[in-house]
Amino acid sequence: MIKNKKILVAVTGGIAAYKAVDLVSKLRKAGCQTKVMLSKNAQEFITPLTFKSISGMDVALDMFSPAGYIEHITWADWADIVVVAPATGNIIGKVAAGIADDLISTTIMATAAPVLFVPAMNIHMYENPIVQRNVTALRKLGYLFMEPEHGLLACGYRGKGRFPQTTEILFAIRTHLHHSRDLAGTTILISTGPCQEAIDPMRYITNHSSGRMGLALARAAHFRGAAVQVVAGALQDAVPDYLPVTSATTAAAMHTAILKHFSQADITIMAAAVSDYRPLHPAKEKIKKGDNLTLELERTTDILQQLGDEKRPDQTVVGFAAESRDIVENARKKLVKKHLDFIVANHLQVAGQDATSCTIIPASGTEKTVAGDKFSVAHQILDMVAGRQK
Ligand code: CTP
Repeated sequence: MIKNKKILVAVTGGIAAYKAVDLVSKLRKAGCQTKVMLSKNAQEFITPLTFKSISGMDVALDMFSPAGYIEHITWADWADIVVVAPATGNIIGKVAAGIADDLISTTIMATAAPVLFVPAMNIHMYENPIVQRNVTALRKLGYLFMEPEHGLLACGYRGKGRFPQTTEILFAIRTHLHHSRDLAGTTILISTGPCQEAIDPMRYITNHSSGRMGLALARAAHFRGAAVQVVAGALQDAVPDYLPVTSATTAAAMHTAILKHFSQADITIMAAAVSDYRPLHPAKEKIKKGDNLTLELERTTDILQQLGDEKRPDQTVVGFAAESRDIVENARKKLVKKHLDFIVANHLQVAGQDATSCTIIPASGTEKTVAGDKFSVAHQILDMVAGRQK
């Protein structure tokens, strides 16, 4: 949870400085105490008054306050996490070089809290080998980074350099407040979302899956350091930029995509609602209405069964169980039949709501029922699944 956490947002001088206002606003709404520091250059883009109004706290601008205390030590000690957003090439370079010559750089040097950089800059600046070398060096030292997004940049270029969506930064902060990068070095394959099996060129068979649980797992695993590969069905939401994704909107396409990545995966999580059946003879042209219509359906391959049968001992395979009755018993039967390491039995699913509850059942060991929003449930699933890896 993020409520009551102390977040220090250090805003450095890029055009994305105005986007940090939304971040601070959302953090406050989430119940955090949010203290803002503004660099001298950031004040060219946005005023301290804006952040004071949004955060409800005085904005720190100088090393030494009129009240006589030493700002950088005070706030370095106070913070549960320091978020440098946006982070310019300059602040990244200074920290990498060990320079502490202003409020933000000295605070970063003085803090024992995790520091998350959210770079946003012109694509050529971001790709500059010096900036990249600094990012790599800081990552090695345990500093945390988000990837900038692709898109149209303020400078007119199109490329990687945009400030990420606020929601994605919040997901990163939530992760780093509670988890280390414990999944670094682990490759995780995650399928998610529903399939669409064609009846004719205009109609298909599908189901109510939104794909949000799988995306929450992918985000959570990414921020914990895993190399994540997503295989996405017909999702309602966009997949964030930082997650590699293969689109596969039929059971057959999903089968092919999963098998392509399966052998490299340490952990495979089948959160997708794969169609069990597809029309045997999809019509080439739109079916015109007439009398009652009977559709003949054929079985699709049970992908998860194949993964469970073929997995190596060093691989972990996790399934989901969608049941309308006897949820845990039926899920347990699937776990055994499909030779899985874990199965996640979903309980509460209110359409359109993010709250969920499920029971995580391991092949050996004690099951656990967890509840919360999908991102928090995703972390709890990963806690159990990754525990097996060690
Ligand atoms: N699954 C799969 N391939 C299919 C169907 C399902 O890989 N053709 C996977 C799903 O991704 C999920 C798990 O199997 O992880 C269980 O899916 P579910 O629909 O609950 O059960 P089924 O195995 O299809 O059995 P039934 O529909 O009879 O309950």
